[in-house]
Amino acid sequence: MAESVLLAGGTVVDVDGERRIDVRIDPVSGRVVEAGADLDVVGSEVHDVSGAYVLPGLVDVHVHMRQPGREEAETVETGARCAALGGYTAVVAMPNTTPAIDCAAVVREVLELGRTAPCDVHSSGAVTIDRAGETLAPMAEMAALGVRLFTDDGAGVQDPGLMRRAMEYAADLGVTLAQHCEVDALAAGGHMHEGEWSSRLGIPGQPAEAEEMMVARDLMLARLTGARIHIQHVSTATSVAMVRAAKAEGLPVTAEATTHHFTLTHAECASYSPLFKVAPPLRTDADVEAIRAGLADGTIDAVATDHAPHTQESKELPFEQAPPGMLGLETALALAIGHLDLPMVDVVRRMSLAPAAIAGVADVHGRPVAAGEFANLCVLDPGATWTVDPTVTASRSRNTPYGGWTLQGKVIHTVLHGEMVVRGGEALR
Ligand code: DOR
Repeated sequence: MAESVLLAGGTVVDVDGERRIDVRIDPVSGRVVEAGADLDVVGSEVHDVSGAYVLPGLVDVHVHMRQPGREEAETVETGARCAALGGYTAVVAMPNTTPAIDCAAVVREVLELGRTAPCDVHSSGAVTIDRAGETLAPMAEMAALGVRLFTDDGAGVQDPGLMRRAMEYAADLGVTLAQHCEVDALAAGGHMHEGEWSSRLGIPGQPAEAEEMMVARDLMLARLTGARIHIQHVSTATSVAMVRAAKAEGLPVTAEATTHHFTLTHAECASYSPLFKVAPPLRTDADVEAIRAGLADGTIDAVATDHAPHTQESKELPFEQAPPGMLGLETALALAIGHLDLPMVDVVRRMSLAPAAIAGVADVHGRPVAAGEFANLCVLDPGATWTVDPTVTASRSRNTPYGGWTLQGKVIHTVLHGEMVVRGGEALR
């Protein structure tokens, strides 16, 4: 029988706060078997994690795995490896694949691909067939396979009548409707945030209102239908304010913000580098401040990455022709620590506990680090500094906007169901 693994000398941070304890993991049951001070080292494979944090594994509700259909940019396996290296133990794959994840057969395919991946891979489902915004997708058959989040991500559902019906179905099925809020009629033809920098650079912009009008509409529809909604990649101060007001009113709404929307602004586009092209676009300093404040006060429940791999060729096109999106899984935790000024317990809330609840996996992820719980864990060295090298990644793509940035905080180990899938910063599978 495999011996147990002992994480010794670390500081655990979970829902119960922060404490200096050792953690013993049984790789056979995949569970934490003991958590306490000065555990016996005999019979265990001991990992000295003194000075490090032992956290519930991170959960990302917004990841593009590109499979099926765009395996040249990423696969479920390589995306999941990026996730494991970033400290994630569960991710939700977005449905804008080819074909789209809009029926049970494609959900099954993604789940099957994820079965041997180094993190738990959950699938979202499209709201409409082929994400075309015209006909509702068979949500019930996808929900029956465990899909808990439905979105046409990459596009918003434009038709309010269809969105209303989708929310009614979602409420009946007990699942969450997630929305990429973007009104096409306002965003079309825009490649960055419409404002000072789009004018200076001569790049057509899209106004903040393209996002905000759909946030407002969907909050109203949530009030009408009683459906649970999740606002994806909130990027403007007004969106944050609307979500805050909706929560104060008691509407069942959650929201996420991406790492890039609290670390970068539209000024980055001055380089004309498509690495900074993303949807929704990078916004103003005031928007970044509002996102940080929203994450601090819990208006924004979760940090997501919107990890969006694109091939080198496509990201070398001129700004206006390049696809939107950037990598995120391997840099997210260090960016959150460095840019959010949150106590560690709140980082854990935003990156593990809340996203686990939104993804519907809170029975397995984002758990307390305690005896009997599933051992899905991330060990972080908060003092380690490292420089982001776009060529050093598990991704098939290279499109990180953070190349050359020096970050503090490095994931050293990731434990998935009791198995070390990352050890000493290296992926083991
Ligand atoms: O920047 C983005 N990239 N935003 C999206 O909504 C889609 C994503 C992608 O699939 O590349």
